[in-house]
Amino acid sequence: MIEAQGITVRLGGRETLHGIDFAAQPGQITAIVGPNGSGKTTFLRALTGELKHRGTVWLNGRATADIPVAELAGLRAVLPQSVRMAFPFTVSEVVRMGLRAGLSAGRDSLILPALDRVGATYLADRPYTDLSGGEQQRVQLARVLAQIWEPVVDDIPRWLFLDEPVSSLDPGHQFLVIRTVRDFAARGGGVIAVMHDLNLTAMMADRITVLKDGRVAANGTAQEVMTEPVLSRVYDCPLRPGRMPAQAMPFLLPQASPLEI
Ligand SMILES: Nc1ncnc2c1ncn2[C@@H]1O[C@H](COP(=O)(O)OP(=O)(O)O)[C@@H](O)[C@H]1O
Ligand SMILES: [Mg+2]
Repeated sequence: MIEAQGITVRLGGRETLHGIDFAAQPGQITAIVGPNGSGKTTFLRALTGELKHRGTVWLNGRATADIPVAELAGLRAVLPQSVRMAFPFTVSEVVRMGLRAGLSAGRDSLILPALDRVGATYLADRPYTDLSGGEQQRVQLARVLAQIWEPVVDDIPRWLFLDEPVSSLDPGHQFLVIRTVRDFAARGGGVIAVMHDLNLTAMMADRITVLKDGRVAANGTAQEVMTEPVLSRVYDCPLRPGRMPAQAMPFLLPQASPLEI
């Protein structure tokens, strides 16, 4: 389990997160959504221990501040919002970096299976710097999967922290990546994903935390948080979710052309 209590972050002399409490269970996908600038990336970086913060984060019952960095790298892997690389490493070399960072050093046989999970084996020998944004995003996800390949080791769950993992992808690859991430959770791992698209979030997440202005505005299942009052207040515009009849899954369509509003 991951628990966070009173997470407060100051950036550029300004308080960006104001005492966030949060919990996520292994075996589930927990999504974090909210408007641009609401603090999603900042909160994810505080959870992973990358960003100085007040408050405490417990990973599998241990305060992350007390876990040595090398051990942390075997317990959790982080997909940043975008990753630029200065040198033209090949795609296989980028995924190998994940193996080295985690506990799988030397297991180069995992490189192609990791790329396969994101539909990118055909890119293995290409220079990373030549790839499109969506291709780079999938290769980075393969690197992160390679880092913590088994979702559970010695009964201890491992965690994926993903910052907008599908935002640059076409629908086919969005579904593939969501299936891969769901499979990681179904096999007992934990997933915390910052998401941009609310429809994909409703489809994939077991729990959703909604941030607004550095605070938790709502928290619950898609059915609980994707409601007109919550979304309209959080996004400062009229948003009325519909329901797919079969699964009662909420979805959103633009209500009117921007020119009519
Ligand atoms: N390094 C920084 N210095 C100052 N302010 C920052 C920095 N990084 C982010 N911020 C500000 O913190 C707020 C939250 O940013 P962020 O967490 O990236 O938002 P989100 O991921 O929800 O779009 C924004 O107002 C952003 O401008
Ligand atoms: Mg962000």
